[in-house]
Amino acid sequence: MIAPGKDEPVRVETIVVPDPGPGEAVVKVQACGVCHTDLHYKQGGISDDFPFLLGHEAAGVVEAVGEGVTDVEPGDFVIINWRAVCGQCRACLRGRPWYCFDTHNAKQKMTLASSGQELSPALGIGAFAEKTLVAAGQCTKVDASVAPQVAGLLGCGVMAGIGAAINTGQVGRGDSVAVIGCGGVGDAAIAGSRLAGAARIIAVDIDDRKLETARAMGATHTVNSQQTDPVKEIRELTGGFGADVVIEAVGRPETYKQAFYARDLAGTVVLVGVPTPEMKLELPLLDVFGRGGSLKSSWYGDCLPSRDFPMLIDLHLQGRLDLAAFVTETIQLDEVEKAFERMHGGDVLRSVVTL
Ligand code: APR
Ligand code: ZN
Ligand code: ZN
Repeated sequence: MIAPGKDEPVRVETIVVPDPGPGEAVVKVQACGVCHTDLHYKQGGISDDFPFLLGHEAAGVVEAVGEGVTDVEPGDFVIINWRAVCGQCRACLRGRPWYCFDTHNAKQKMTLASSGQELSPALGIGAFAEKTLVAAGQCTKVDASVAPQVAGLLGCGVMAGIGAAINTGQVGRGDSVAVIGCGGVGDAAIAGSRLAGAARIIAVDIDDRKLETARAMGATHTVNSQQTDPVKEIRELTGGFGADVVIEAVGRPETYKQAFYARDLAGTVVLVGVPTPEMKLELPLLDVFGRGGSLKSSWYGDCLPSRDFPMLIDLHLQGRLDLAAFVTETIQLDEVEKAFERMHGGDVLRSVVTL
């Protein structure tokens, strides 16, 4: 599925996928979720390197590997990640590989069959396609008994939300957690908090339908922030103190401020919602000083694919984490444009293309 130019409708085209070179793999894609970032690519909000090959939340089977690839082999069922790490840079060596700034995507290019034009794969993946070329390091082998449309979710949004709770927020047994914004990412943060043993999980949204879904994901309390002051409500629900961890999953200054004031003294705020470049945050510096604690942001859930993907798939297969609840619908490749439209309707957590 190609985004040919800024704001132009996406369309299905025939592409040429080269044989994998050294360190590369070709994956036969089985499922790929539709994420907001695909829409941002289409709108030219991420780069103007058109045409893009969209899709980056994918799972499939390795078809071929290039020279020197030992971690995966043809036939392996894998989840593709957009953050392959090198293991050698400063970030990796300091134990924060999710900040690995080396990019390790495939070196060769996929092209349009009609014109030979090079394609820019979204987030170095490009998986709204029957097959795609990636770096072998972007492939993580997981238990093949999981449905591909469920496995692919961990490639982006759901991993970001679960990781915001368990990796960045370090939610622990008995903690109180508040999650502001209950779309796919916020709901995943709720599921992650439940998994981590949080005693109280307060879901905040402006849409009652979202709050209903949040409850099914594990929220113990819900707050409609258009009807009541969420900071006051969260305080009341936590004995007057505020939550141990507050996760902001909208990406706006006003909801960030709510998160900042809804946490307990010395609590943690995790920003996982992605702001736009023009957004500014103003807070009294004395409050930053006086309230202590940690103000963190979560980058792809601060995940380590090789550690987190197999673990979360195992938990899903054991019935301890309902990843399937995030798949609202499965669609065909030529329905991505419609899925973009539905994204804003508020009824869809994830539309997943199956191939
Ligand atoms: N207060 C509370 N909730 C809000 C507010 C607000 N002021 N504004 C919007 N929301 C809710 C919406 O009702 C919706 O349920 O936030 C949720 C956002 O969900 P989605 O649009 O489905 O987005 P999602 O995929 O969950 O991603 C959330 O994380 O990865 C980033 O780019 C992504 O910034 C986005 C955020
Ligand atoms: Zn690195
Ligand atoms: Zn994404």
